[in-house]
Amino acid sequence: MNIILLGPPGAGKGTQSHKLVAERGMVQLSTGDMLRAARTSGTAMGKQVAAVMDAGELVTDEVVIGLIAEQLDTNPADTSFIFDGFPRTLVQADALGALLVSKGLKLDHVIEMRIDDDALVSRITGRFTCSKCGAVYHEATKRPAKDDVCDSCGKVHGFTRRKDDNEESLRTRLLAYYRDTSPLIGYYYAKGLLARVDGLGEIDAVAAEMGEILAR
Ligand code: AP5
Repeated sequence: MNIILLGPPGAGKGTQSHKLVAERGMVQLSTGDMLRAARTSGTAMGKQVAAVMDAGELVTDEVVIGLIAEQLDTNPADTSFIFDGFPRTLVQADALGALLVSKGLKLDHVIEMRIDDDALVSRITGRFTCSKCGAVYHEATKRPAKDDVCDSCGKVHGFTRRKDDNEESLRTRLLAYYRDTSPLIGYYYAKGLLARVDGLGEIDAVAAEMGEILAR
């Protein structure tokens, strides 16, 4: 089964992806995570995209399509993929469709995570992440059991915050979402693939709604 999680920054795409990976053995393909890894390892591409990401703008279609194509080539053919943060433009959506067809794969569901813009500021500014395993936390809604210790991997003093998690960058990211990504809602609706969940619910409630969609 292959699915896309579609939603604005802070909708909970990464959080729900981690649950699906842990509970269903799916593989998360997050272009945001791949781009951050390229920055950390200092590749030419990582350096090239750093300023664009910090400002909250979109990286070029060519770069992210290349990253996804590489992942589809290297994972086994029977992998169940979660596309998290990809596609983000109509060009990327067409490219993903063509890549899947070329591999004999198909898309099963596109899940739009709906959430009020007002809730996104506190989601984004309160987020912190484990630098070792990528587990996602929040100051108010999802704290680790012990301060400074990751619940998932046990790393101590390993929490980091993203450079683009500030109000100014969030405004640019939201604009990019409404300008470039929201047309994908109609695109996938027309293909009969779109389903919606209430992203404002509690994390487990959102996961339960997703489970119902995946069972269809
Ligand atoms: P990316 O990393 O994809 O960021 P994003 O889409 O802005 O999404 P986020 O990771 O910010 O949010 P999320 O929906 O995953 O929320 P999360 O689960 O963490 O992209 C970053 C940048 O990379 C882009 O701006 C762009 O520059 C570039 N890029 C990436 N892909 C690209 C592409 N395809 N094309 C071009 N450029 C690309 O949750 C947020 C917080 O809320 C957490 O603290 C979490 O604990 C909390 N939370 C989650 N769910 C709930 C809930 N139900 N209730 C309460 N709290 C919750």
